[in-house]
This record gives sequence, structure tokens and C-alpha cells, in this order.
Amino acid sequence: MKISVKIQRQASRSSNPVYQTYEVEADPQANTVLDILNKIQWEQDGSLVFRRNCRNVICGSCGMRINGVSGLACQKLVSEVLEIQGSLRHSPASTESDLNRDRDRVLVIEPMHNLPVIKDLVVDMSKFWDNLSRVDPYVSTASRQISNTEFLQTPAQREKLQAAANCILCGSCYSECNATNVSDRFVGPHALAKAYRVLADNRDDLTTERVAKYNDLDFVWGCTRCYNCNEVCPVGVQPLDRISQIKQEILQDRELPESTAQRHRHTMVELVKESGWIDESKFGVKVVGNNFSDIKGMLSLIPLGIRMILSRKMPWPWEFKPSEAKQQIKTLIESVQKRGKDGGS
Ligand code: FES
Repeated sequence: MKISVKIQRQASRSSNPVYQTYEVEADPQANTVLDILNKIQWEQDGSLVFRRNCRNVICGSCGMRINGVSGLACQKLVSEVLEIQGSLRHSPASTESDLNRDRDRVLVIEPMHNLPVIKDLVVDMSKFWDNLSRVDPYVSTASRQISNTEFLQTPAQREKLQAAANCILCGSCYSECNATNVSDRFVGPHALAKAYRVLADNRDDLTTERVAKYNDLDFVWGCTRCYNCNEVCPVGVQPLDRISQIKQEILQDRELPESTAQRHRHTMVELVKESGWIDESKFGVKVVGNNFSDIKGMLSLIPLGIRMILSRKMPWPWEFKPSEAKQQIKTLIESVQKRGKDGGS
């Protein structure tokens, strides 16, 4: 069947993006989005630029936005993106309405978000790699005596790292991250997943330093918990879950002073109890501004707040409306809190 493929083209960093549409013969159940891009490049337009390498969900090169969601072009079948049912596979369109319906099917391919475009679908990933290096993403064995034998791990110790170790650094989570979109300083979900990978490694000897370092708004407390990273990760890293695990380590560390981290957790629960969801304007004032007592923190919120409002990540204060289900949500939270106090599981 013929499908239409609409691709965002951009000649250089400084030029404006435009969309170009191609008609491609495709087998939706057999062809991946990468197959379609290859067809276009090899058969119709050799000037189209995109990254690819392994074609097998290993190298992470082919990250891009496919019909509005970031993912790997070599992993997504056309049928999966366009929700074409298996029954269509070998039954070519036979009526005029079938033909019209098929022609309506459009793949929309765009470069990843949150990174500047170099050309067409290729983005500059410098910031992505720089942010990764900010978490010191290597197991440190500096204080360990080097033995002549291997430093073996038990299956249980290795299991703790498994999900985070799956990361192929494709950038899909970073592209969809709301916190990255509004904060230049937030390291991003990919970096925090890697941070957990080394933090949880029993061979690493920098646990104390890492816990203290990640206890910061630029690291775990900058995450807005939007779950986009978990939704799009193509290899099951579940970055938000890894971020939550780092938060647990921080909150269990009695050496750390009562600070932003504690306020973050309590404020989140109190605000959800109050209105059914988080009023981000109050959240910043209570957590970062410490209820107006931290002037420096309050001032630091101004540029972030403006960016969040302008990009519609947060409503103006007068637009905020409590959830219609706020009473049920409050009851639910209170019953969970009561169970916790009573020692229930
Ligand atoms: Fe390697 Fe897609 S080409 S992950």
C-alpha cells in the first residue's frame, strides 16, 4: 500500500524548518519507519539526512519523533504507528473508500526535541553527553585494593542494575522530558538512570558522595514526574523509576540535613491532598523558596516560572482549577497515611 510520509526538513542550524511529503510503497506489517526513511533516501531523495547504524535497537542512533512521540525508527513498525490492523496485510484496498482511507495515512517524522537541529533529523547531542558526564557515570574503585581475581557480583547484586544497564542512550527520554524543556540545568532522565546504575553497583566506592550530589534541583529534585520518559523508553529502563530509587536512597540517608528533598516530598503530598493535583506555582514557592524565607531560592524561580508558563507547562495562578475528584484523592491519601502510621503494608 501507499503511505504518505511527512518529514521535517531543515537545511542548517540557522534555517527554518519546513515539511516535505513523500509517497512511499510500504508493507506496514513488515516495514519499520527506518525502512521507509531508507527507501526515501535511496530511491527518491538522497539529500535527506538522518542517523542510523545497527537497524536492530542496539546502537541508539535512530532516535526521532514519530507521529509526535520520540522513539527508535528501527523499532517501530509502520503498522504500529498508524494502527493498521493485521487484517489489511494481504488485502489490497479494493474499493474507492478503502483507497481514500489508505491515502489518509500519514507518517510524520520530526527530529528529537530539547536538542538543536543540525540538519533534517540529525540533532546536536553535545548537551546530552555533557549532562551524562555530570553524574560521573563510571563505577569508582579508587579506594579498593586491586586483587588478582575478578570482583564477582552475585545474581541479586547484578539484578539491581539490570533495568538501568539496558540504556542505549538513544535520547528518546531526553526529547520528551518536560523538566529538560524548561530548565537548562536539569541533567535529564538518561543521566539519572545512569546515576542509579552506578549508585546501585556494590563495587562502587563513592556512594556517599553520589547521594549528596544527586540531592539537588539540577538532579533528582528537578524531575517533574511527568512519566514521559517511562512511556517512551524503547528498552525498559524506566528512568522515572530509577530517579525514584535515588530519591529513596537520599531520604534514607540520615546524615543529609533536612532540606529541599524533605520539603519536596511533604509539599507534593500536601498539595495533592489540597487540590487533587500539584499546583506548580505553590510547589516552587514552598520547596525552593522555603515559604518565602529563602530569598535566593525565590529569585531563582522567576526565570523558570516564566519559561514554564510561556511553554504552557504551568497555568497562570488564576487559571489553576482543583481536580473534580479532589475529595476522593484526599480520602485515598489519608487512608494510605493512616495505614502507614498503623504499621500496615
Ligand atoms: Fe541502531 Fe536504530 S539504528 S537503534
